[in-house]
Amino acid sequence: MSTRPVVLVTRGLPDDWLHRLEHTPGGMELVVGPADRPGLDPALEARLPEADGIFSLLTERIDEHVLARAPRLRVVSNMAVGVDNIDVDACTRRGIPVGHTPGVLTEATADLAMALLLAAARGIPSAAEDVRAGRWSSWSPTGWLGADLHGATLGIVGMGAIGRAVARRARGFGLRIVYTSRSGAPEIESELAARRVPLAELFAVADFVSLHVPLSSETHRLVDATLLSRMKPTAILVNTARGPIVDPVALREALERGTIGGAALDVTDPEPLPPDDPLLSAPNLLVVPHIGSATRGTRRRMAELACDNLLAGLRGLPLPHCVNVDALRGA
Ligand code: DGY
Repeated sequence: MSTRPVVLVTRGLPDDWLHRLEHTPGGMELVVGPADRPGLDPALEARLPEADGIFSLLTERIDEHVLARAPRLRVVSNMAVGVDNIDVDACTRRGIPVGHTPGVLTEATADLAMALLLAAARGIPSAAEDVRAGRWSSWSPTGWLGADLHGATLGIVGMGAIGRAVARRARGFGLRIVYTSRSGAPEIESELAARRVPLAELFAVADFVSLHVPLSSETHRLVDATLLSRMKPTAILVNTARGPIVDPVALREALERGTIGGAALDVTDPEPLPPDDPLLSAPNLLVVPHIGSATRGTRRRMAELACDNLLAGLRGLPLPHCVNVDALRGA
């Protein structure tokens, strides 16, 4: 058995993203999964009994089944801010700290939320498609009419770092901000004249709703038929958080009946969305493939932060970004 720590990297990543691991004094054995296939590869599963660390992506489930086979495991480092692919409670019970990558993807994700909002508000995908399909016969006084952003109201569900970054961008476009948050954000209220409102009111008054809460048992299917029925018939829902926060059947019905104006989704349930998923036949729907953090700089920074968390965990030090600090106390 190897004397160097064994680290399972669940998906293949560019070498230079992992250089902090590769050039660690004393070294480690990196066992890297395939780049193009989600899910824990059988070759990595076979090494679980020797694993000291797991560097995971959101496409791999790290649950009881995995943990039970990894008795030496000292750290799980997720290259994502969301950790809903990990059974964090099970890790905590076993004294295993779980790292994640907050902060570095805030701006990129906020950019994508605004891009989706703008694209849906102005019907950019279908207008571009019309040009390609030869349907642009003249400038049209009544063609391709979208929604104004300036003077409209944006409802932000969850005023964490990404919600705030979206709010700042939205103010630049002249949107009024209402928001929900567990703790309130007084500084955002004074900086951006934002108003905290109950969730049901937010859905009723907003012209655009953007979701920025983590997925948990509390937020699973948070946006259901009842909330959707409160939305204005012109209002647009933007989701760059997690797919299961929205009930996909209720969303399809709302789009088909025209009780909401549209939806723009970076995340879906399931993910990926199969091409024949019924949701995709709904009108006024824009879906992109979970690309909120997909900029070259952001993904590299996420990998570096995940390496830092992993290295700290292997050394028995507090992780720079840990979601379960209790794990080390109890261990
Ligand atoms: C995250 O980090 O949770 C994002 O969804 C990845 O883009």
